[in-house]
Amino acid sequence: MADSHTFLIATLHRPSVSSWSTSPTLWIVIFASCLWLLIRRPNLTDKDGHPLPPGPPIRYAFLRRYPEKPLYRWAQKYGPIYSVWMGTQLFVVINDPQVARDLLVTHGANFSSRWPYFMKNQTILRGGGITAASYNDTWRKHRRIAINMLTLTFGSRTVKATDPLVQEALRLGMEFMRLTGPWSNMIDFFKVLQWIPTTMRAQGRKLHNDFIAVYGAMMLRTKARMDAGEEVPDCLVKTLIQCQEEEQLTWEDMCFIVSAFTTGGVHSTSGIIEWFLALMPSHPQVQAKAAEELDRVVGRDTWPTAEDEMKLPYCRAIIKEVLRIHASFWMGTPHCSDDDFVYRGLFIPANSVMVLNVYALHHNESRYPDSFSFNPERYFGDELGAMESAKQPDALVRDHWAFGAGRRICPGMEMAERELFLAVSRLLWAFSFAEVPGEPICLEEYEGFSGRTPLPYRLTPKPRHAMVHDVLVEKTEINLNDV
Ligand code: HEM
Repeated sequence: MADSHTFLIATLHRPSVSSWSTSPTLWIVIFASCLWLLIRRPNLTDKDGHPLPPGPPIRYAFLRRYPEKPLYRWAQKYGPIYSVWMGTQLFVVINDPQVARDLLVTHGANFSSRWPYFMKNQTILRGGGITAASYNDTWRKHRRIAINMLTLTFGSRTVKATDPLVQEALRLGMEFMRLTGPWSNMIDFFKVLQWIPTTMRAQGRKLHNDFIAVYGAMMLRTKARMDAGEEVPDCLVKTLIQCQEEEQLTWEDMCFIVSAFTTGGVHSTSGIIEWFLALMPSHPQVQAKAAEELDRVVGRDTWPTAEDEMKLPYCRAIIKEVLRIHASFWMGTPHCSDDDFVYRGLFIPANSVMVLNVYALHHNESRYPDSFSFNPERYFGDELGAMESAKQPDALVRDHWAFGAGRRICPGMEMAERELFLAVSRLLWAFSFAEVPGEPICLEEYEGFSGRTPLPYRLTPKPRHAMVHDVLVEKTEINLNDV
């Protein structure tokens, strides 16, 4: 018995030992099987057998630059809603206006949270800045306080881009766009990497501290004016300082609420203005039509004001079309689901990242024929502002999705539209724009992983008429020596 047992072990071991040490094919097969088990798509179902939305067969560690391109191709392949595994995290991608409305608006109670992205939400914002907060009472409180004060943040006006704190705040905004991106950071999708002291993690932590230092200093400036008895106009910082105790806000809470309006509001709005200017030289006919409208409605003795907005439909259409064709955030800001949900027979598990595929929505050929062309005329007859348009019951007729959707929709959208109107209409009133000879402007590539701005470019503004100089100088809002 002992002998036969020994023999069995010997015969079992001998061939396997030799093949393990000698057969590279076996190693390759084992390695490939392990790899496949690691990267293959897990096809989960719920207890009733509902499958996940369809999607690519493998998991991804991250998506490279311009993630909207593969996401758009997948939308064409898998349809109005699909799912992608990023590491161990499931992403559900919405490519259709009706699905966006059904999930993010009608079922907004379940789809309005934020997934705790390691870089953006845990390391840099640490759940603050409104945008990183889960869908809870803290988010409600911060958004309520901020939304009442949307027009003024600091209670003082600066047109000096040279102010060191303003410069620093703008730099932080660019750094934020570089370090965060819904698809770009492998560290977001593999927990094990989050424990390793990487350069990226260090940069995120530094950015968190820089935000507090810079916005804290800006708030202290306003506080000093208040303490000195100076009349400070009602503004977000004043409100925050006054209600800090009652609302139980920490200094960090306050710094990040204030930063939300610069990081969220300035780069997105200025980015759209940059895209608008980048588009103008290649669209002289658009400039000519706008110039005709401005000369006819406003005249040349003064420039457009907010009251002229509804009288300038072509200028409004240009803004909508820039927001459509060059939205600042091709993937919105992803939402997150709180509970398991079944939609059109598909299983959306709790804690799925919900992505609004703005790129696919904005290139839907049945809604926007010839969707890759810049054509403001597609918005003729659309008199609704972005907020009113988003509230329409028929999602198919909404103007565009650049401001997101549902309960987390951009609270600054009306202010952004107003700023864009003043900037775009005044620029077109004053100048015509041409390329610098030999320096073509690139409209395909861009900077930033979360927000997107064009690559640096130069153009030549030419005053459209003799009154331009006098009117610009006369406007006390702009001191040309300060800009
Ligand atoms: C062209 C300009 C702008 C664009 C394209 C834009 C776009 C967006 C988008 C796509 C979102 C995410 C919405 C969602 O989760 O569904 C958002 C959120 C937000 N935006 Fe804007 N935005 C702009 C201007 C502004 C301005 C001017 C402000 C403030 C003065 C602002 C403040 C915010 C804040 C605080 C949030 C977070 C809201 C939340 O999570 O509850 N944005 N914005």
